[in-house]
Amino acid sequence: MRMKPSRNLLLCLCSMLALGFLYYSSWRISLRGWGHRSLYDKQGFFLKLDGTLPLKLTYKYGNLSEGACKPGFAAAKMSAIYPKLHVYSGCDSKHHAMLSLQSPGGSIASEKIIDILLSNTKIYGLGEELDSMSCKTCIIVGNGGILANKSLGQRIDEFDVVVRLNEAPVKGFEKDVGSKTTMRITYPEGAIQKMEHYETQSLFVLSAFKALDFKWLRHMVLNQRLHSTDGFWKSVAKHIPRQPSDMRILNPYFIQEASFKLIGLPHNNGQMGRGNIPTLGTVAITMALHNCDEVAVAGFGYNLSTPLAPLHYYEKIKMSAIKESWTHNISKEKEFLVKLVKAGVIQDWTNGICSGGC
Ligand SMILES: *[C@@H]1O[C@H](CO)[C@@H](O)[C@H](O)[C@H]1NC(C)=O
Ligand SMILES: *[C@@H]1O[C@H](CO)[C@@H](O)[C@H](O)[C@H]1NC(C)=O
Ligand SMILES: *[C@@H]1O[C@H](CO)[C@@H](O)[C@H](O)[C@H]1NC(C)=O
Ligand SMILES: *[C@@H]1O[C@H](CO)[C@@H](O)[C@H](O)[C@H]1NC(C)=O
Repeated sequence: MRMKPSRNLLLCLCSMLALGFLYYSSWRISLRGWGHRSLYDKQGFFLKLDGTLPLKLTYKYGNLSEGACKPGFAAAKMSAIYPKLHVYSGCDSKHHAMLSLQSPGGSIASEKIIDILLSNTKIYGLGEELDSMSCKTCIIVGNGGILANKSLGQRIDEFDVVVRLNEAPVKGFEKDVGSKTTMRITYPEGAIQKMEHYETQSLFVLSAFKALDFKWLRHMVLNQRLHSTDGFWKSVAKHIPRQPSDMRILNPYFIQEASFKLIGLPHNNGQMGRGNIPTLGTVAITMALHNCDEVAVAGFGYNLSTPLAPLHYYEKIKMSAIKESWTHNISKEKEFLVKLVKAGVIQDWTNGICSGGC
């Protein structure tokens, strides 16, 4: 049957309209795509990192006395350069921790262990005094040799929260790194093994990068003998001189946010491993951005143009010993930290992060 000409025309018109619409909308989409690209980088940070605060906050902070803690400063600065930020303390929601565990890097098998752990440690916060403060300043003390001989100890101790990482010692280094430790964030292979090297008081915080790390913590919390160290990449501590109430699990959300969102490491179908594990220092900074009003760092950044300088502040190993890591992506991570320093989200007291220029 032959179609009537008028009907043919209508069909043709319709398809032309449809084509026109498609063309128009694809143009719109690409236009928006371009607009998007010109404002933000791949991770969602503004390309222009000026970190200008809302006027309201500028007034509010202007009213504070010199040097006083500025409530909400770090999160506000971060939001100014990274509008996608959703501030989340990470310690009030077991549900969220579980969800994060079941997705990238975790396994459902950990769930029972988490329940055991949380029912033993019971407490989620930093302790009554710190939890009740309306404004907290935090410093993350990295382990870099750049801390040596700068006599920053006293200033570090003035922070409300002092975070230390892995086995970084305090005793004998107080002049440069301070003597206060609010929390020590570690993973099993990085934890202090000599009991006498622990400070007398601090929270022991596990940053778990693999399911086995939770099993290890269960042994530590329940004070059980560890029969095997299979699956760890290095020897691990057999005992942690802390009561369960002084042990915490860092919400795995912060590891994932650091890796996949902020640094932009490859997702690898959620497998944590090759090139997508953030360093502990960056995980700690990420946690602090959500939990502290002001965030500073010290002892971060390696200056590779000084191969004979010490790598860490507490041992003789030289910068030249630094090895390519298959798990971390130091250069991508540095790009992220540089953004934070550039925009004034964090203060870098030893200027190591921008050592290549900011
Ligand atoms: C700052 O101080 C001024 C004068 O004391 C006051 O009028 C104003 O409301 C204060 N602003 C804020 C945001 O607190
Ligand atoms: C720090 O000072 C000590 C003693 O003066 C010296 O032996 C050491 O090499 C210095 N370390 C650095 C990193 O400059
Ligand atoms: C780090 O990331 C960059 C950019 O995505 C990539 O080219 C490089 O191979 C990565 N390096 C490592 C060690 O994974
Ligand atoms: C890194 O080391 C080189 C050589 O000593 C020096 O010129 C440069 O200023 C250092 N960078 C920083 C900021 O530490």
